[in-house]
Amino acid sequence: MRKKTIRDIDPRGKRVLLRVDYNVLVEDGQVVDDMRVRESLPTIRALRAAGACIVICSHRGRPRGGVDETLRNAPVGAHLTQLLGVPVRMADDCVGPDVERMTLALQPGDILLLENVRFHPEEEANDDAFAQQLARLADIYVNDAFGTAHRAHASTHAIAKYLPAVAGLLLEREVDYLSRVSDHPERPFAIVLGGAKVSDKIGILEHLAEYADLICIGGAIANTFLKARGIDVADSLVDSDGLAAARYIMAAAEHRGGPDIVLPSDVVAAFGEAGPGHVRTVSVAQVPVNWRILDIGLGTVQNFAAALQPMRTVVWNGPMGLFEREPFDRGSLAVARILAELQATTVVGGGETVAALRRAGVADRISHVSTGGGASLAMLQGKPLPAVEVLLDA
Ligand code: 3PG
Repeated sequence: MRKKTIRDIDPRGKRVLLRVDYNVLVEDGQVVDDMRVRESLPTIRALRAAGACIVICSHRGRPRGGVDETLRNAPVGAHLTQLLGVPVRMADDCVGPDVERMTLALQPGDILLLENVRFHPEEEANDDAFAQQLARLADIYVNDAFGTAHRAHASTHAIAKYLPAVAGLLLEREVDYLSRVSDHPERPFAIVLGGAKVSDKIGILEHLAEYADLICIGGAIANTFLKARGIDVADSLVDSDGLAAARYIMAAAEHRGGPDIVLPSDVVAAFGEAGPGHVRTVSVAQVPVNWRILDIGLGTVQNFAAALQPMRTVVWNGPMGLFEREPFDRGSLAVARILAELQATTVVGGGETVAALRRAGVADRISHVSTGGGASLAMLQGKPLPAVEVLLDA
């Protein structure tokens, strides 16, 4: 990474505003998947060891610029206290004179976690005055929020106008790894893409139609592609806005001698509430009227496995079905196991996709598990990340 990092600064006795991405799932007051919290520990520990007073800033969810009681940062603060074994203080806002006083009272090694920065609409507006308020809380800014690095928000972008800004260790590791994969992937290079909406992924699909050697498509995105091919997908979720893009991407891939695109050949479909007797594996050409496709079938898993076998780099983003509900998690779990067996560089990003890896028990057999979904896809398209661009050059 050609940006300054925490190794280039001396934060002893200084207040460091550390932007992290603690956008994690919390249920019943407990952090459910703490990968993003754990991945921030090396930077926090390094800053503590160097004698910094640490002020941590994060968003959670999309509270639309107002206070949402379910999206407070307190459960994450409690979890961080457990992981670090040192108390993490909580502020009940992220700007203002009271918070400023709390930061000035910090001693080297102390940690203060600010309240959800997206409770203020100015955050997502990348507002300068708000960034200046945040800047009053610190002497140095460190960005370790890779998952949010594709957003130009006040705490990830405008802030760098007002404080010396460097990268944390997680941000550095993610950017280094993903730029190697996106700039010079060992070929053949494949992507396995899932999730719900084609429109969210048009950019990456258009880019990959020119760049990848193979694209395996599952999840509800595949329904849109199947429909674009003229297949009747009955009541399945289809992104109507994405139909034209799906047609274009398939045509472009064919005309330019582009990648092989592998779509599902069989699917797990369900009727109504998917009760007993109402779930069946069928060929994509035979989805019964009023049924919905909710996962890829075993034949498709086998096709994906065979197509992926010769690949040297494989990126996976987006679940293959309605992953949160059994038995529609099986396609995603199977794809997780396929990736774990490949003799290839494997990169997986996105919350549910990483959850599938963990549930399949194979996360440690993947070359790089990214804390960023949208951010890792942006990098794979070769797009600059606004939050990285503003950091000081090395
Ligand atoms: C994520 O979970 O992908 C990041 O935290 C960014 O969240 P956002 O998509 O709400 O900006």
